[in-house]
Amino acid sequence: MKKYGPIGIFDSGVGGLTIMKEVLKALPEYDYMYLGDNARAPYGTRSFDSILKYTLECCNYLFEKGCRLIILACNTASAKALRTIQQNHLPKIDPNRRILGILRPTTETVGLYTQSRHIGILGTPATISSDSYIIEINRFFPDTEVFQQACPMWVPLVENMEYDNPGADYFVEKYLAQLFLQSDQIDTLVLACTHYPFLYNKIRQFIPSGITILNQGTIVASALKNYLIRHPEIEQYCNKNHQRSFYTTDASLDFERKASIFFEAAIKADVFKI
Ligand code: DGL
Repeated sequence: MKKYGPIGIFDSGVGGLTIMKEVLKALPEYDYMYLGDNARAPYGTRSFDSILKYTLECCNYLFEKGCRLIILACNTASAKALRTIQQNHLPKIDPNRRILGILRPTTETVGLYTQSRHIGILGTPATISSDSYIIEINRFFPDTEVFQQACPMWVPLVENMEYDNPGADYFVEKYLAQLFLQSDQIDTLVLACTHYPFLYNKIRQFIPSGITILNQGTIVASALKNYLIRHPEIEQYCNKNHQRSFYTTDASLDFERKASIFFEAAIKADVFKI
């Protein structure tokens, strides 16, 4: 394994790009390597064993490529696979490497935004069934009530580039209605899936204007900034040449098309053959 390398950013597909975009704004000087497991997305409707196996394979690939630090820019992988990988696999792979999730920075700040103390979580079926958001938010903000809703159709809408089209309205409205049926006092929403920011404009159409929608990307970017300051033993191994590289487990042309639209710049991607 190489000694110095980029910071790895992993997601099941294109969703992690919403996190990467904010990380690039906050910490542009570092090198980044993005990996989307597009061939096996969505993860959110899969079993624990599958999510663990796929996430582990992708982390190992990023480690082989030289990453010392990986961000799981995926709530589903963070909720389901992160703890097992950190506790059971990472010590054997290399105890000097790190994998960070995105649940923790989100759950430790969400309570700062709500006035009504009623928080809504929108996520994949896997993230919602793990109850990770409820458990973690209750730990940091025991005075809040957390309501959650699984949105199984939202990731396919994004992966198929349908997020801005009229056909998306039905499913966006449907899941929001189901969430707000549980509590009409929710004043803060967490888009607990990195794909969902693509649906931001649609979501806004179906909720009252006073509701805060948290931007997980900026929260994760600022948490990463703090982490790198607090952990020079990791930071010193992260290259700072402003380089970005992109990998996908599926057809590179399809990924390049999506990523280029999103980044408003031509993106070249290589394939990690699984
Ligand atoms: N974008 C991911 C998340 O944050 C996973 C979506 C999926 O593959 O179902 O949960």
